[in-house]
Amino acid sequence: MKPLIIKNVSFVKSSTRIKDCPEGSFPEYAFTGRSNVGKSSLINLLTKRNKLAKTSATPGKTQLINHFLINDSWYLVDLPGYGYAKMPESERQKMMKMIREYVLKSERLVCLFLLIDVRLKMQKADLEFLQFLGNNLVPFVLVFTKTDKLTKNQLSRNLNQYKNNLLETWESLPDIFLSSALKNHGREEILEFIEKTLDQE
Ligand code: GTP
Ligand code: MG
Repeated sequence: MKPLIIKNVSFVKSSTRIKDCPEGSFPEYAFTGRSNVGKSSLINLLTKRNKLAKTSATPGKTQLINHFLINDSWYLVDLPGYGYAKMPESERQKMMKMIREYVLKSERLVCLFLLIDVRLKMQKADLEFLQFLGNNLVPFVLVFTKTDKLTKNQLSRNLNQYKNNLLETWESLPDIFLSSALKNHGREEILEFIEKTLDQE
């Protein structure tokens, strides 16, 4: 299958609540994961627009629900991150509430991309969030980011650990993608997945 071609991209709006999100019937693909995992960078990689979603080396950059309209027909949604230890507890709770509300109430969410930094061991915050997704039957896939930071051997070892870890609580594994915003890896596979699922809408 040819990967989807992204012809137009436009930023539509930033929202704090689901009721403020854009109205209409366009399907949505949203991105979340721990702060600094590379959500905004992945959106820029997918759209080939380096400055579309704001990125930062300091965690906690994206603090709102950001809708980007693609080809006038579907949305990429950049969500805040969770689990940033240095963020005040009240802020952290606010971010988590925003993410959870979006995930539970967005009627047009086709799939949530949950990003995980492939360098790290499975984090408690990710396990808890995965549990939340499972309990609420939210459709999701996993993207392991920053693959450029590991050697091939480290990468396959970490991936195996993640998979084994997941199979302790999940009956089967979700779809898994690998990405490197630095090396431009993962774009085609993710766009193919989006194209396939858009076709089913
Ligand atoms: P918050 O909005 O703060 O939650 O972060 P985010 O998940 O949107 O991460 P962001 O895209 O802002 O990236 C965080 C940092 O990681 C930036 O310094 C990026 O340049 C870097 N980064 C993101 N993806 C990759 C990657 O694939 N490889 C490498 N080496 N660095 C990456
Ligand atoms: Mg961000």
